[in-house]
Amino acid sequence: KDDRRSRQQLWEEQVLKTAVSNKDVDEIYVPNSEKYDYVFDNDALVAFTEDNENVISGDEGEEIEEKEDDSEELARQVELEKLSTIDKARKSLPVYRHRTRLMDAIKENQVLIIVGETGSGKTTQLPQYLVEDGYTQKGKFQVGVTQPRRVAATSVATRVAEEMNVKLGQEVGYSIRFDDKTTPGKTVLKYATDGMLLRECLTDQNLSKYSCIMIDEAHERTLATDILLGLLKGIIKERTDLKILISSATMNAEKFSQFFNGCPILKVPGRRFPVDIHYTLQPEGNYINAAITTVFQIHTTQPLKGDILLFLTGQEEIENTRDKIEEIASKLGSRIPQLLITPIYANLPQDQQSLIFQPTPENCRKLVLATNIAETSLTIDGIKYVIDPGFVKENSYVPTTGMAQLLTVACSKASVDQRAGRAGRVGPGKCFRIFTKWSYENELEMMPKPEILRTNISNTVLLLLSLGVKDLLSFPFIDKPTIPTLIKSLESLYLLGALNSKGQITELGKIMCEFPCEPEFAKVIHTAATHPLCQGVLNECLTIVSMLHETTSIFVGNKKEATSRIVSTIESDHLLYLEVYNQWTDSGYSRAWCQDHKVQFKTMIRVRNIRSQLLKCCSKLKVDKVDCTTLSKHTNNVEKITRSFISGFPTNVIQLGNSGYHTIGKKTGGLSVLIHPSSVVFQNYKELGHKPEKFILYQQLMLTSKEYVRDCMPIPSDKWLVDMVPQLFQHLLQNNVKK
Ligand code: CDP
Ligand code: MG
Repeated sequence: KDDRRSRQQLWEEQVLKTAVSNKDVDEIYVPNSEKYDYVFDNDALVAFTEDNENVISGDEGEEIEEKEDDSEELARQVELEKLSTIDKARKSLPVYRHRTRLMDAIKENQVLIIVGETGSGKTTQLPQYLVEDGYTQKGKFQVGVTQPRRVAATSVATRVAEEMNVKLGQEVGYSIRFDDKTTPGKTVLKYATDGMLLRECLTDQNLSKYSCIMIDEAHERTLATDILLGLLKGIIKERTDLKILISSATMNAEKFSQFFNGCPILKVPGRRFPVDIHYTLQPEGNYINAAITTVFQIHTTQPLKGDILLFLTGQEEIENTRDKIEEIASKLGSRIPQLLITPIYANLPQDQQSLIFQPTPENCRKLVLATNIAETSLTIDGIKYVIDPGFVKENSYVPTTGMAQLLTVACSKASVDQRAGRAGRVGPGKCFRIFTKWSYENELEMMPKPEILRTNISNTVLLLLSLGVKDLLSFPFIDKPTIPTLIKSLESLYLLGALNSKGQITELGKIMCEFPCEPEFAKVIHTAATHPLCQGVLNECLTIVSMLHETTSIFVGNKKEATSRIVSTIESDHLLYLEVYNQWTDSGYSRAWCQDHKVQFKTMIRVRNIRSQLLKCCSKLKVDKVDCTTLSKHTNNVEKITRSFISGFPTNVIQLGNSGYHTIGKKTGGLSVLIHPSSVVFQNYKELGHKPEKFILYQQLMLTSKEYVRDCMPIPSDKWLVDMVPQLFQHLLQNNVKK
């Protein structure tokens, strides 16, 4: 077992080295320490030793240079070899053979749809061709490429920087929320999430920096992609020099073409080997167990050459499955070859992402546990077996109740076909579907539902209004949102004070748009900074809001266990997060403190980064009428914090009825919900016997077998509700009294 562990370690070390070589720092020197860990803090890559001393930043590497002198020649050779390998790889991609045809088509058309097999080089190559062919006019313009997912944006930018032999963040960069790695004036090729490019429209309505924009993975039909396409339709009339490429899997290509007045669709023929599809004979009750069994069946009966890709629905499921598989593998010991398990999901820290792209070592098999991110946006070489339970986690929004949930739903036919295709990239492959053939043929939808039809569009409506779109119904949506969804979003924006009673955007609404977070969170921050009943808790609210952006990965293992190390009792999850952050700050942002308290150090670094960006935004917008930096960070003013959150999330309040808590709504009032056992509020009520408050505010509603609310905060006084959001609560509470 020791031998196996050390091999995994060696491999991870090698990966870390690669990660380092891709970043800003050329060398890292850690004196007298072999235990180190890399952390990306803002721009600088720093190495931390175990005890958080001897923190060496990138520009202190002089000592190394001398030692490296004699090996300089060798290093140069290695570099040349690497470049020639990359060059060969680039030339072997399907798009390379069609380069002339593609570039001609781009020259002749303002808008072009490109359809090609996943892995054929659309994302990494086309933008480089544009740069090479002078579309950026020596830095005067940029080529912008959007990605629906953060992980895809960062990993593709990293890869392309490597191919162009430049430092990431210089000529090639990326921009994702809370993390902008571009250099103004230098970056010519920028990979950004679709949401980020959409935000850029706020400050630069005609996207005048760009000469070409590639909307990648357009078939995903994320809300931001849809809105961008709608805006671009208008922009190209003004900017006849702007080129638009829309890259899409086969599904939806026709629809995009129609949307852009019948623009041409260019198909890049790709290579694809046959994939054998296997189904289960009966429906499977527990698809995770069935998937795990399949993993071991493949691993023990199929030749070692050929990695496995298993599609799961989210981080939690991936981590649980990983634990189970590791447990079984360790029981089997040396009787089976080693399985190297590599997860990939949206929130996976960046330094761990490169693991999935590393070639599998000899005598091992790689098992990639992925969300549907690996369906089309990331290509992992070497996959020969795909295991597909056929599920995906999706937003689902019911406009009548105004409630959004993340639901696990069956994939569409188009998705499961895409997934199967991932097995046939390097050679003939196999796909094991954990559902029946009958179900495939009769139960699955043809296409996934576009996000705009299943999500809360308040953000988008606010953004469109601030862009000056007056008549929402005449905006060119590819699929129009339903009228109830539109009305609900206007209502909730009105409740937040972002719109006035005529439906026009207010000053506050404009401020909310400027914040890189949902308008609800922006409202919390704004209230904490300016409301007479709340002033003085801006620092606290900034911390809590930042922590709420990362709640899934704050604690190592069990949240309850970690909590008990931090506080004995605390009233709400919000205050718990505040306490975690404050204690960590007091420890001097220490890594050791995190280890002692089972808190994820890297998550905390990210939270600190988010917090500082939100704070910058506050001072830029002058929302802090009181100077927040001079306030004591320990002003533990629970009432003011609670009031601030009520003003941001008035519709997330639940009420205690005869049979537990239920939601409150104007007409529908009364979906029964349970407090999730992971919430400290649950523990206080169930285990410490505290008296349940009549009202509770929650941050997340989840539907599993039951409706649960997560991240909760008790509201001890009705008056706070009425004070903060009279439009909603005055009427509602009066009615309650009458009843
Ligand atoms: O966009 P499309 O699916 O057409 O392909 P791509 O993402 O441009 O990938 C082209 C090739 O680059 C694939 O063979 C990938 O294996 C490789 N690639 C990589 O090695 N590392 C990455 N981070 C991204 C792509
Ligand atoms: Mg791609």
